[in-house]
Amino acid sequence: MQETILILDFGSQYTQLIARRLRELNVYCEIHPWNKIPFIGADIRGVILSGSPFSVRDENSPRPDLTAIKGKLPLLGICFGAQYLSHHYGGEVLPSKTREYGRAKLSFVDHGSALMKHVKAHSQVWMSHGDTIKRIPENYRLICSTEDVEYAGYEINGEKSFAIQFHPEVYHSEFGTQILKNFVVDVCNCSQNWTPDSFIDVTIANLRKQLGTDKVIMALSGGVDSSVAATLLHKAIGQNLYCIFVDNGLLRKNEFDLVLDSYRTMGLNVKGVNAKDIFYNALKEEKDPEKKRKIIGAKFIDIFDREANLVKDVKWLGQGTIYPDVIESVSATGGPSATIKSHHNVGGLPDFMKLQVVEPLRLLFKDEVRRVGRALEISETIIGRHPFPGPGLGIRILGDITEEKVRILQEVDYIFIKGLKEAGLYDDVWQAGAILLPVQSVGVMGDERTYENAVALRAVSSTDGMTADWCHLPYEFLAKISNEIINNVKGINRVTYDISSKPPATIEWE
Ligand code: XMP
Repeated sequence: MQETILILDFGSQYTQLIARRLRELNVYCEIHPWNKIPFIGADIRGVILSGSPFSVRDENSPRPDLTAIKGKLPLLGICFGAQYLSHHYGGEVLPSKTREYGRAKLSFVDHGSALMKHVKAHSQVWMSHGDTIKRIPENYRLICSTEDVEYAGYEINGEKSFAIQFHPEVYHSEFGTQILKNFVVDVCNCSQNWTPDSFIDVTIANLRKQLGTDKVIMALSGGVDSSVAATLLHKAIGQNLYCIFVDNGLLRKNEFDLVLDSYRTMGLNVKGVNAKDIFYNALKEEKDPEKKRKIIGAKFIDIFDREANLVKDVKWLGQGTIYPDVIESVSATGGPSATIKSHHNVGGLPDFMKLQVVEPLRLLFKDEVRRVGRALEISETIIGRHPFPGPGLGIRILGDITEEKVRILQEVDYIFIKGLKEAGLYDDVWQAGAILLPVQSVGVMGDERTYENAVALRAVSSTDGMTADWCHLPYEFLAKISNEIINNVKGINRVTYDISSKPPATIEWE
């Protein structure tokens, strides 16, 4: 049985970070909303209560029922979690007089506490709270303080319960990882056996059990998630996995053949479907970005459905969904929440297909998918690939799409991406691409006046695509790429570089 740490989420922006830190310690954990505590079985080794935007003094604040947990299992309250364990059990929490955001130094550390082992006094911790614990209940014991916050940490006598006011999950807390390790390893006795290899073994065994001799159909995108998911399914059920890779005419230059070849080399049972004309015809003269997206999504489903019908008795749809897409987020009011981000790599599961969904990566973060991919020996060109949107170049050609515009943009994009790779910049950039602008401008080539299109180059740094900054690429590099594009791509006489961050701009222009 998989040893698990349960993280109860009260809506903090840092909850996912707690999970990531534990996973980095090779300890498996799951995030659940505070009001949907799952069955507490033998595999739950300990529980962590997250922070929250709420004040425990607020009448509407979350009030989890901890009867099955407190005093029975190891428990760690963080920030709001620490205040909750004090406030509701006889302590006192009041609004802070001074702002307690950012850096603080530990002025007192009780090394006799299991949670504080190897944590240096005077080390930095990261605070972010508006309330402060003024008094702890009688059977609680202080284990650390900062200059401004006396009750920065405490433990509960006779229980394996601990709490800290600061955030150990953020990197700015110097001994944060040590504190989390003290909790999960020393207090909860987790054996740190959650590794890519163990994940692969367990997942393949589970997929075999779940799928038996059933057939699975899956759309591949060339991206890391669908490729890793397909490889796991392939290892579990072999030729009963039917993969489909559709050329919608909006992929990068040569991408269809290259990706198809690498899938075949990996031994996947994959069918390449050339559907370019279907997409171009459906998109003819459409200028509206959302309508273009819808047309591309709908045509994709038509083609996928047609291909699925060719596979006799197929029962399952494989998807590359990952953890951030499935974690239930706590609603702003703290009420029973159920906002599951609905994100399907294939652009939505049509109800009429009546297939069950199998998602081998639904518990992994993106960096873990990459680690698993490397352990599966999938080629680095797939694992390290930049994200690429489902509608592809369709949302990078502003305005209507024609085959000729696709060709022009493919050439520009090819020069830019190849240049980034050759200059050793590709892996420093989170996502890069080119945008064909519906703008013509005057230029001069030789002695001739030109009146041709402009392109924008975009390269951003990001961790999750939610926020992004433009990359400060070297001027010499931009100059070289600009020259190469204008000299080699007929139809382009002007190159610009996008220096907008997200927000307020977005990564894609449509
Ligand atoms: P934006 O433009 O919203 O993009 O800042 C954030 C990330 O999402 C990708 N993106 C999409 N991916 N279908 C997708 O599969 C889409 O319609 C779509 N729109 C944007 C974008 O490439 C970036 O990685």
